[in-house]
Amino acid sequence: MKVISTEHSQVLATRVARALDVKLVDVKYARFPDGECYLQAGEIDDETIIIGSVPDNDALVQLLLLIDACGESRCRLVIPYMAYARQDKQFKRGEPLSARAVARAMSAGVADVTTVNIHDPAVLPHFSVPARNISIAEDIGLFLKTLDLNNPLILAPDDGALKFAQGVASVGGWDVDHLEKTRLSGVEVRMDPKQLSASSRSIVIVDDIISTGGTIATAAGMLYQQGATEVYTACVHGVLTSGAYARLMASGIRDVICSDTIERACSRISAADRIAHALKKPVISGSA
Ligand code: R5P
Repeated sequence: MKVISTEHSQVLATRVARALDVKLVDVKYARFPDGECYLQAGEIDDETIIIGSVPDNDALVQLLLLIDACGESRCRLVIPYMAYARQDKQFKRGEPLSARAVARAMSAGVADVTTVNIHDPAVLPHFSVPARNISIAEDIGLFLKTLDLNNPLILAPDDGALKFAQGVASVGGWDVDHLEKTRLSGVEVRMDPKQLSASSRSIVIVDDIISTGGTIATAAGMLYQQGATEVYTACVHGVLTSGAYARLMASGIRDVICSDTIERACSRISAADRIAHALKKPVISGSA
């Protein structure tokens, strides 16, 4: 068995290979003059673990090419971050179910799929091979334990993210709640924890994805007004688009913490051990 990765997941793939005590395959990446992706994989084995986050369209093409290049091997695919997973419903007539389209494309040529905190596990049946999702909520909790937090309150930005926040909070037996938005006028909203007070305590806003960071930056300002001592934010997938990191820091957030499912300077938690552990077990659709 060997591990191979797209350019986007080199660090995470190296960590998974170490955890599994197997070799990494060297891959040469280039582009044709018209911008098309090119790659050439080194010596593969009978079984190949392909690790490829898909944060953008180019990454998707690169992953599809890599799966094809490993076609003589039994391929098991790990998608640490899957773009398009948020478009998991047809909101308007004529729209694609993008998550389904992408899942179908990535299924061709692989034996099974493992995702990490996919936005909605309802996407998994769209893979045409056995697919499961694993969560690193516990690893985020373990990281938070290393910080000097004062009576922490773990907050989900909305009730949809509450289950994830509960997974993080259970590690330290911390309080958990979600933010509730009250519309004060056409342009003004207020955000408070639904049940608990933010006053005189450390707040950690946790979510699966931080994209523009807009909601969290606004919430942080309001939590400080409500007396929070400090506000942190932590997520699995640091998409951090449109200046999100600076926006969050400018809002007074003390630190932005994310994992290496998308490799960023602020990736301080690794999904590698969870992925390696999961790969030791067969994929039974929907299992953790
Ligand atoms: C959406 O449902 C996700 O869980 C995140 O809450 C969302 O992607 C975050 O978006 P943003 O960072 O742009 O507020």
